[in-house]
Amino acid sequence: MNFATDFLWGAATAAHQIEGAWQADGKGESIWDRFNHTPGKIFNGETGDVACDHYHRYREDVALMQRLGLRAYRFSTAWSRVLPTGRGAPNQAGLDFYDRLVDALLAANIQPFLTLYHWDLPVALFELGGWSNRDVGHYFADYAALMVKRLGDRVRYWTTLNEPYVIAFLGHHLGVHAPGLRDELLAFQVTHHLLVAHGLATQAIRALLPSAQVGIVLDFTPVEPLHDSETNRLVAETIWQKTGALFPDPLFRAHYPLAVEPMLAQLGTTLQPGDLALIAQKLDYVGVNFYRRHVVDEQGRALAVPGSEYTEMGWEVHAPAFTQLLVQLARDYRLPPIYITENGAAFPDVVDADGRVRDPRRVNYLREHIAAVGDAIARGVDVRGYFVWSLLDNFEWAFGCSKRFGIVYTDYATQRRIVKDSGEWYARWIAQVG
Ligand code: FCB
Repeated sequence: MNFATDFLWGAATAAHQIEGAWQADGKGESIWDRFNHTPGKIFNGETGDVACDHYHRYREDVALMQRLGLRAYRFSTAWSRVLPTGRGAPNQAGLDFYDRLVDALLAANIQPFLTLYHWDLPVALFELGGWSNRDVGHYFADYAALMVKRLGDRVRYWTTLNEPYVIAFLGHHLGVHAPGLRDELLAFQVTHHLLVAHGLATQAIRALLPSAQVGIVLDFTPVEPLHDSETNRLVAETIWQKTGALFPDPLFRAHYPLAVEPMLAQLGTTLQPGDLALIAQKLDYVGVNFYRRHVVDEQGRALAVPGSEYTEMGWEVHAPAFTQLLVQLARDYRLPPIYITENGAAFPDVVDADGRVRDPRRVNYLREHIAAVGDAIARGVDVRGYFVWSLLDNFEWAFGCSKRFGIVYTDYATQRRIVKDSGEWYARWIAQVG
């Protein structure tokens, strides 16, 4: 077996996708609350107002994690729950919630793995320009410090940002995520400001808690050429530079990819002297989120691969690309230890008449992808943990509650949780390898 005995086996969630309680106990409005309530943005007009009601049911959810034998739990804190307007006076009730959650996790022997920003910017900061305003990076660092002061005595793993590529481009170029803007140049400005914010928050965390493990979570969709031609290879490489390499290049090599330089050149004073050194500070780990690959033709169009299996998201199931990605990242960058911070699949699960949720396709997906991680480790890649996305079926952003990624089924009408076959399988796997 390639997995160390202290390998962190866990599951992941995000505040906005599970907590609900969007206005409870003094929580401020986030850009996702606002987006959800804007007609036409979310499938079926659904919202995250209640989601899995985890804010009120966290004890039950931690008990579930314990029953599954999870060693670690990756979750995010909602900025607007602890700082309703993003800065200024903290909301004690919000801080108390995370305090209780962390205590419950530790009592269950589950390592908390905390993400500070999983997309839910306080609206008050959006009104100041959001991530287009460099100052927001400073407010982010203050927020990080607040959380470290409150939880740093018990939380060891700190993640600054989740998937900054998605934040910048789905939120500011494609407009399918909050705040729903469509401006490519703005997306590059946001890219740079997110990286600066990451650098500032990293400094703030380390200043208060030198023993903290600090990292960032990046998403990767490997891009493979359909044809073995020079043109097709070049097209695939350019897409990779503009997507996959866009964040690791500045973070681990202190420069941006060549392919994005023309866009950055139009940003004027956004890039300031010293920024790249701030961005490329040493990290303790990097989180890798992997779901699928893209196979592209000479025009750069992602195509369906004949014979391949596709999930409910329309994402191809292809585990070998995962091993290859990890090996390639380790080869191309001098990376710190890697945690797989998200990996999983959505399928149209149903509760059978006997009350069981049979999800053999998810079991296969997890088995193959965990094996792919094992193969990467065997090839010398330093992977220290794996988090299934997700613990629970939850509010899948613009898809509302229509896509089920959980290893635990959520019955939204009653808030009953049912461990799926994949959850039972994962529990057995952890018990066996751990
Ligand atoms: C990732 C997000 C996560 C979830 C999965 C399916 O991009 O980080 O919140 O939506 O995709």
